[in-house]
Amino acid sequence: MTKQEIILANQRYLFPSVFHYFKEPLVIERAKDQFVWDADGNQYLDFFGGIVTISVGHCNETVNRKVAEQMDKLQHVSTVFANEPQAALAERIAALTPGRKLTKSFFTNSGTEANETAILAARCYTGAHEVVALRHSYHGRSALAMAASGQGAWRLGGAPASGFVHALNAYCYRCPLGATYPSCNVRCARDMEDLIRTSTSGRVAAFIAEPIQGIGGFITPPKEYFEIVAGIVKKFGGLFISDEVQTGWGRTGGKWFGIEQYGVTPDILTSAKGLGNGTPVGLTVARPEIADALAGATISTFGGNPVAATAAKAVIDFIDDHKLLINAAETGAYLRSRLEDMKARYPLIGDVRGMGLMQAIELVDDRESRAPATEATAALMEASRENRLLIGKGGMYGNVIRITPPLNIAKSDVDEFALLLDASLKYVSEKRLAGTAG
Ligand SMILES: Cc1ncc(COP(=O)(O)O)c(C=O)c1O
Repeated sequence: MTKQEIILANQRYLFPSVFHYFKEPLVIERAKDQFVWDADGNQYLDFFGGIVTISVGHCNETVNRKVAEQMDKLQHVSTVFANEPQAALAERIAALTPGRKLTKSFFTNSGTEANETAILAARCYTGAHEVVALRHSYHGRSALAMAASGQGAWRLGGAPASGFVHALNAYCYRCPLGATYPSCNVRCARDMEDLIRTSTSGRVAAFIAEPIQGIGGFITPPKEYFEIVAGIVKKFGGLFISDEVQTGWGRTGGKWFGIEQYGVTPDILTSAKGLGNGTPVGLTVARPEIADALAGATISTFGGNPVAATAAKAVIDFIDDHKLLINAAETGAYLRSRLEDMKARYPLIGDVRGMGLMQAIELVDDRESRAPATEATAALMEASRENRLLIGKGGMYGNVIRITPPLNIAKSDVDEFALLLDASLKYVSEKRLAGTAG
């Protein structure tokens, strides 16, 4: 198919909810490591990793070799039969979870399903129904996951499943209480008690949260936040589900999971995206007694299938063998310094935040009012595309640029990225001064 035929077929035969970045859809033809190529043969530096998913480089040779071998050996049996790749993956994961306390896994195909399973397990274990989530969160696209999500734009169809309330998130750059950290005494976290007392029956099944809110715009809570909120939720009988779909597997640098940066051990952890490096896989891993409470019949046709399980274990092994937790911390710190340097030169950048190789810049029309620069962000996405750089967008106001390159990039890749982003920021900033672009 030609590029135009692909775009036309997309319009004709896909739901229009399958939206694309950019005014003209970018048709990707192939990818390798940190690069992708479009249908016209142009090469792009991919600093979004597909969508926060390419953890060890596109078409990683080591991972794909193991996947290909498994494809030829055993492709499908479903969870009603035992198989080695699923067992080996579950064993590997049990040895890596926070505090090594989460030791039983249930595999599915996506982050959405992983969160569904986590909430179901929490409800079965506690006998309670209500769930606390955070404002600005994103947990997936099923009715239940949309109900858990705290962004109107991602709650398609209106009034999804009941039983969810949303607590204040620690969005320090736009504090929901108008306070300033640290003199605020993290009041947003302490409000959890009031929320549970006033907006639930007082018995909650779970609190679900992303350690760093992904689609919300890499909102990074202060260090005390999770200890306080998880402590309050526990008082009311609730389990803590850490949604690590974006923050897992070393992304935040130095630790396997984002929640470990906060010194808190969750009861259940969910993952997807980077675990498979592009192969669909969803993981719910829990303390054994919680997993045991979900003892009734449930099945996932493709969950833990030999090919996906092989891919996931190969990804974990690759991260471990190549010491990518350390690389994410070190190269992430370098990336952060380059972004801070750009903030000093471009007033368009209001905030730089994130951890490891999960960094964001929030764009504002002016630093005083902090008015979200939504149009300028769209213009920056287009300009970056022109400069052959792929980055992501997010945030409630569409004014956050998300940066999540593969974990195995080098500092020289960051230099190349900085050059391209700088050129794009310069272009958009100059256009704005001339009054010709958002
Ligand atoms: C934090 C988080 N949780 C859950 C999901 C849902 O994952 P999936 O799209 O694989 O269903 C996403 C997807 O972006 C996510 O970012």
